Amino acid sequence: MKKVFVKSYGCQANVYDAERMTDLLSGEGYSETATMEDADLVILNTCHIREKAAEKVYSELGRVRDLKIEREAQGQETKIIVAGCVAQAEGAEILRRAPSVDVVVGPQNYHHLPDLLQRSRMKAVVDTEFPIEDKFDHLPKPTRAQIVSRGVSAFLTIQEGCDKFCTFCVVPYTRGTEISRPVSRLVDEATRLAGAGVRELSLIGQNVNAYHGEGPDGTTWTLSRLLYRLAEVPGIARLRYTTSHPRDMDEALILTHGDLPALMPSLHLPVQSGSDRVLEAMNRKHTADEYRRIIARMRARQPGLAVSSDFIVGFPGETDADFDETMRLVADVGFAFSFSFKYSPRPGTPAAERGDQVPEAVKTERLARLQKLLETQRVAYNQGTVGQTLDVLIEKPGRLPGQMAGKSPYLQPVQFDTETLAVGEIATVRIIRAGGGSLFGELIKAGDKVAA
Ligand code: SAH
Ligand code: SF4
Ligand code: F3S
Repeated sequence: MKKVFVKSYGCQANVYDAERMTDLLSGEGYSETATMEDADLVILNTCHIREKAAEKVYSELGRVRDLKIEREAQGQETKIIVAGCVAQAEGAEILRRAPSVDVVVGPQNYHHLPDLLQRSRMKAVVDTEFPIEDKFDHLPKPTRAQIVSRGVSAFLTIQEGCDKFCTFCVVPYTRGTEISRPVSRLVDEATRLAGAGVRELSLIGQNVNAYHGEGPDGTTWTLSRLLYRLAEVPGIARLRYTTSHPRDMDEALILTHGDLPALMPSLHLPVQSGSDRVLEAMNRKHTADEYRRIIARMRARQPGLAVSSDFIVGFPGETDADFDETMRLVADVGFAFSFSFKYSPRPGTPAAERGDQVPEAVKTERLARLQKLLETQRVAYNQGTVGQTLDVLIEKPGRLPGQMAGKSPYLQPVQFDTETLAVGEIATVRIIRAGGGSLFGELIKAGDKVAA
């Protein structure tokens, strides 16, 4: 059997896509390997979001090329595929910079992989046209064994692409226009996952709360309605969704938090900046106070809600006063954890053209200050759960023998001792200590078991 090695960069959409590509290629006689050196086929599933991420691909491609040459000397062939968002953004330019690449394929086209591989025997191929057909209709379903190997918490892509055009962001160009998958397909996929032991679904997409898929009744369903439907799938105990946009946080979804027990009390709602001036220049179309109000209303529904966010520092024209507004917003909201980045000018986006770019040293200094505050809040949030009794979904064995590891409702990793409980069970655990990355707890009560 031939072997495929996939390396993914970037967001969860790429993790999900990597799984679909391996499912597809297993039908073509490829088994998955975790070592690049063994692979007959290497796929780099790339991210274009920041310059560093995109440039990493070329250094990695240098390494893969050397491997290809070494294997060739031993009479073995290695095919190289560049997939994902750099593939979409740069297309044929990749072949020019890295001639050892055989196939360049965009995120909406990877269902064509078997055909592209075939065609690449003659010469390298590029497939980045946005196709008319839906790739999901052309992808094979994962086998039970494949699902089981990926664990009890699974991603489910419900929506793809983005129509928001934030002025800093490449996603609308790399992933294309916003498309929601129909409810019936999602229920089928969720049922299949649950049948193989999956207990938690994370609904993913670039803007999941803009979900507007076709319901079985022919009407358009919102994310709230979809969540209620997926909660009915036997075996599914927990639901999460990511990423959301503040503009699409509608009343029904806010009410679903607190009303639907399966919907976990965690929310990733990126705000990017606390300055109204910067938010406007970013084309976010909401103010910092509107964001504060959304969070306050949601916390009223689900006290303890773990709120996380993404931040960009050093957006063009960002002044010290603007940055102070971001620090003030962070202090007001209190985040469970966050991701923060220096603004990176991306080719083809409006913000990259601006003449008022912020100097690198200023970005570095602001990022350090922001990250210090966010880290203090993360530690405080975790510390705040010490003494609480939480449900933990067991995902894997813990670090030490006799330990299991899982996640709290608030998405915190938790370790605890148990000789009897297994992966997929939900245990009641009292948190006794917060470590650097994990919480440590003691088992209070075995949880529910679901026959899969
Ligand atoms: N769709 C999501 C996030 C997509 S990208 C949303 O709208 O929130 C993930 C994060 O990368 C963004 O939230 C943003 O914080 C960051 N990001 C995107 N473009 C960037 C750029 N040009 N420079 C720095 N960070 C960027
Ligand atoms: Fe990018 Fe904005 Fe769309 Fe998020 S909402 S993917 S940041 S354009
Ligand atoms: Fe990166 Fe594409 Fe995701 S640019 S963040 S992999 S949508």
